[in-house]
Amino acid sequence: MPYQGHINPMLQLANILYSKGFNITIFHTNFNKPKTSNYPHFTFRFIIDNDPNDQRYSDLPLQGMGAFSRIIFFNRYGADQLHNQLELELSRKDEPPVSCLITDALWHVAQPVADSLSLPRLVLRTSSLFCFLTYASLPLLGDRGYLDLSENTSASLLDGLGYVDLPHNTHLEEQVVEFPTLKLKDILKMGYKKENDAIGEVIGNMVKQTKASSGIIWNSSKELEEPELETILRDIPVPSFLIPFAKHFTTSSSSLLKQDRTFFPWLDQQPPNSVVYVSYGSVAQMDKKHFLEMVHGLVDSKQSFLWVVRPGFVDGSTWLEALPDGLMGERGRIVKWAPQQEVLAHKAVGAFWTHSGWNSTFESVCEGVPMICSPFWGDQPLNARYMSDVLKVGVYLENGWKRQEIANAIRRVMVDEEIRERVKMLKQKLDVSLIKGGSSYESVESLVAYISSL
Ligand code: UDX
Repeated sequence: MPYQGHINPMLQLANILYSKGFNITIFHTNFNKPKTSNYPHFTFRFIIDNDPNDQRYSDLPLQGMGAFSRIIFFNRYGADQLHNQLELELSRKDEPPVSCLITDALWHVAQPVADSLSLPRLVLRTSSLFCFLTYASLPLLGDRGYLDLSENTSASLLDGLGYVDLPHNTHLEEQVVEFPTLKLKDILKMGYKKENDAIGEVIGNMVKQTKASSGIIWNSSKELEEPELETILRDIPVPSFLIPFAKHFTTSSSSLLKQDRTFFPWLDQQPPNSVVYVSYGSVAQMDKKHFLEMVHGLVDSKQSFLWVVRPGFVDGSTWLEALPDGLMGERGRIVKWAPQQEVLAHKAVGAFWTHSGWNSTFESVCEGVPMICSPFWGDQPLNARYMSDVLKVGVYLENGWKRQEIANAIRRVMVDEEIRERVKMLKQKLDVSLIKGGSSYESVESLVAYISSL
């Protein structure tokens, strides 16, 4: 799946398996292709969108939520090419035999293709177990009427700016009976429409074909999601392997954008836990009004900050045109893209104001950094709720972008010793899980043994 939030964990997993002795061949699209020279030890094959004149793919948006429409079309039209390329790989006599195919869970059409070739397919699910269980319950949640309000939300996942404005409704704060962790607004914020929703269809197929796979690899840990793991093991009859990828490899070599490192001398001079790191991942976009609330919230918090503003992040701007002159002062640095894991591991960073994408969320936990959560859509509202209400390692800005609430939340997270202590404990548990006998260590070993047995 050619998106930064999916490429990173897939290549981290590939690195883990390579380090255990496996040969790796990567199938990728031309859209968002990773820098192959960073991976001389892997073989790359480009499939699906090789013809620049193929209008099924060439006319699709390159930026924003619309770029995600490729998920639908790769599933709709990509099966034959996947089949042909796999057949070719299986017939090569000069290479070691193929053990299995591992695909992103969202590429669900890979399951029937793999079945037709009698090739075991493992799934990499790049979000949390909690998210998967919620997605698996969408039909039930729809039947119970929870999605009835979804027709009135302002944006569908593919045509909106990327965050979901909710209609005013007194039920929004109510708990979802089947998922007591969630409020009705969390369900609606995911952004799925009740009817005729192509992304909803992909999610449904993703769940179905993940259950039909030979095994599931999760970028997560038993230390984080033990109750969810118990449910998954009870309800899904294939092995699950939970591995905290960020504890094994960084994502630097799979970065699609150039990483700015010029701010490190400045960051090195800041006192411990004094800087707020702000980044909203690789796809989120904002309008100017909400961007200005972010700006004022940061200024009013009076904290030092390192802020990643991707080119195109503010709708209608190339980069920082919407930023009022002189307002930010000398307290912070703004960059286009950063080596995120290195930043989170830096002693000066005291909090992460995140859009709650799963990679960012888990990287933050892996480095023991508390979060301010501002989710946009999809799994993000679920991750935000889980971090704030279940693990209690973050503060959820539930009412969107309002400068006063932002400033208060940032100040609170920076001084709240309990939140910091909890997330440090979680980091320590993750570290211990990597040692022989620990859950993550055993997960890697059993994954290696499992693939070898296929
Ligand atoms: C998307 C979805 O938004 C997310 O909810 C889903 O779980 C995965 O796909 P994205 O929005 O890009 O991903 O967020 P996230 O999952 O957090 O992934 C972003 C990745 O980019 C992280 O691995 C992060 O380390 C990296 N990154 C981000 C950088 O390397 N530099 C930056 O400046 C910002």
